[in-house]
Amino acid sequence: MSYYKIKNLEQYFKHYKKSIREPQKFWGRVASENFVWYQQWEKVVEYDMADARVEWFKGAKVNIVKNCIDRHLAKRGDKTAIIFEPNNPDEPALHISYNELHERVCKMANVLRDQGIKKGDRVCIYLPMIPELAVSVLACARIGAVHSVVFAGFSSSALASRINDCECKMVITSDGSYRGNKTVDLKGIVDEALQQCPTVTTVLVAKRTNEAVPMQDGRDQWLQPLLDKASTNNVAEIMDAEDPLFILYTSGSTGKPKGMLHTTAGYMVYTAYTFKNIFNYQDNDVFWCTADIGWITGHSYIVYGPLLNGATTVIFEGVPSYPNFSRFWEVIEKHNVNQFYTAPTAIRALAKESLEYVQKYPLSSLKVIGSVGEPINEEAWHWYNDHVGGKRCPLVDTWWQTETGGIMISPLPFVTPTKPTYATLPLPGIQPVLMDEKRNEIEGNQVVGSLCIKYPWPSMARTIWGDHQRFKDTYFSTFPGKYFTGDGALRDEVGYYRITGRVDDVIIVSGHNLGTAPIEDAINEHPAVAESAIVGFPHDIKGNALYGYIILKDIGEGRDRNNLSKEINQLIADQIGPIAKLDKIQFVSGLPKTRSGKIMRRILRKVAEGDFSNFGDISTLLNPEIVEEIKNGRL
Ligand code: WTA
Repeated sequence: MSYYKIKNLEQYFKHYKKSIREPQKFWGRVASENFVWYQQWEKVVEYDMADARVEWFKGAKVNIVKNCIDRHLAKRGDKTAIIFEPNNPDEPALHISYNELHERVCKMANVLRDQGIKKGDRVCIYLPMIPELAVSVLACARIGAVHSVVFAGFSSSALASRINDCECKMVITSDGSYRGNKTVDLKGIVDEALQQCPTVTTVLVAKRTNEAVPMQDGRDQWLQPLLDKASTNNVAEIMDAEDPLFILYTSGSTGKPKGMLHTTAGYMVYTAYTFKNIFNYQDNDVFWCTADIGWITGHSYIVYGPLLNGATTVIFEGVPSYPNFSRFWEVIEKHNVNQFYTAPTAIRALAKESLEYVQKYPLSSLKVIGSVGEPINEEAWHWYNDHVGGKRCPLVDTWWQTETGGIMISPLPFVTPTKPTYATLPLPGIQPVLMDEKRNEIEGNQVVGSLCIKYPWPSMARTIWGDHQRFKDTYFSTFPGKYFTGDGALRDEVGYYRITGRVDDVIIVSGHNLGTAPIEDAINEHPAVAESAIVGFPHDIKGNALYGYIILKDIGEGRDRNNLSKEINQLIADQIGPIAKLDKIQFVSGLPKTRSGKIMRRILRKVAEGDFSNFGDISTLLNPEIVEEIKNGRL
């Protein structure tokens, strides 16, 4: 019997039980039946959760790109691996077969090696959603270089700090990028970032917008001429199961972003397995995930998961609103998309527009629709289910994180009955638990608590690059021996999970994780600002928006508040990116602080939400009088 694909609910429970009772057997079977290995593992899993150390398939030798591409060539060489849908609908789409992808990746891998990139070196990829992005990712993995993709909406200083944190030797970028009716000067952003990045010796530049850009002698090279000269023969690096595959940065509640490190074999097995089951992918289906490859969703479910299954995956360069609000639906029709995976923020934005945009299209090719990135509210769930899924496509609400590598809790289509706003049941191998404030596990159903995972799974992040102590402190010490997700959840009467949101200082805006600390740091750099505090408040489309409370220095007091607000938002855009801009800025004379000097964010959150009832105990505040002022000045 194969464990790779779950066919019905009874089988789900059977596989789930097996995966908990005998994880070694379960994952050993999945891994040996569905992948090509140079050498088998000695042990399926070895771990010490208290010390945050986990190893999967130790002793095995493998190359993930061999599994993504080479092994499909005999049977599926002519099958389309990637459909590239450009930003401009008048530009023809590109169909890249597995044979062509193989050729492109081999050439790129040879270019990287020619440029001195070796196994273990870090390569930063800062590219728009064009085929070169996926090809660069795969070329790195083929030669054992560790890719660090930085979302091409991040600013130059965010890019620089990510490059420096993992000491990249190379940056792969493009002249520019298209986003709706705008173009962005990506190369200019890279040039600015690299003024602060001593480790980068080479920049490879793909052409996209064909704008003239300055090229620095000895450092910058156009990519295409190098590819033209490169051979299509490339021997893949033989990797250990636990060799680093990639680093991907995610915001923390404090300090600098965390470089989550994912390794090779466990990530490969789990992303392939979850892709197959959660999207019920069948051989000739076309799968489309609208995320950017700069986020974990794109890594796992545009690139690795689909290609490991020999699937056809869509890379979409554009945005849902360009040239109009029908774009998603038009692309689904154009390419006969069977599985569609997007974010609640996109759904809410489209649901605000006239229904005609979606009703014009029958969308009859769709079989499964999915949601990721933040809790999907009931209204958005129904709109998506009714108008996109036509009430016939199961809607999979998938909960997971950059840190988890793959989807952890989700319905399986045609297997798990769905329930609006519920991520429902854990995947095999995943053991979620809810914890109370006293750090005890909450048993039984109809309970709420902090969501933890109590047993390792193959695709979990192994560490934070360069800072294992921080990894341990952030994820494994709040509830010793368990992985703490930072999310709160409830478990209903049948054991279904519903994620209620973050319980830490991370705020999810339009599906992007933003830590409060880096935004506050950016604001505090303004010469007129003395101190600041950021909280989230509910927003119709973004899910949450940012509300900033700012204390000015004397020199700021006489200045025009509108101009100050603009300058502050510009600072945030420069330091982090436009996604982190504040929707509301309230200037205050003080912030509510406890006697130990901690800002009581709970109060700031309530004011931002406009909920003046029940502030709780404010007697422990050093300055309780400030609460009244803040309430009265609410925007
Ligand atoms: C949130 C994205 C509710 C959650 C894959 C998590 C969700 C954070 C869901 C991780 C969902 C993601 N329902 N909340 N289906 N999916 N989240 O690292 O708070 O960008 O901790 O990974 O997004 O965001 P990240």
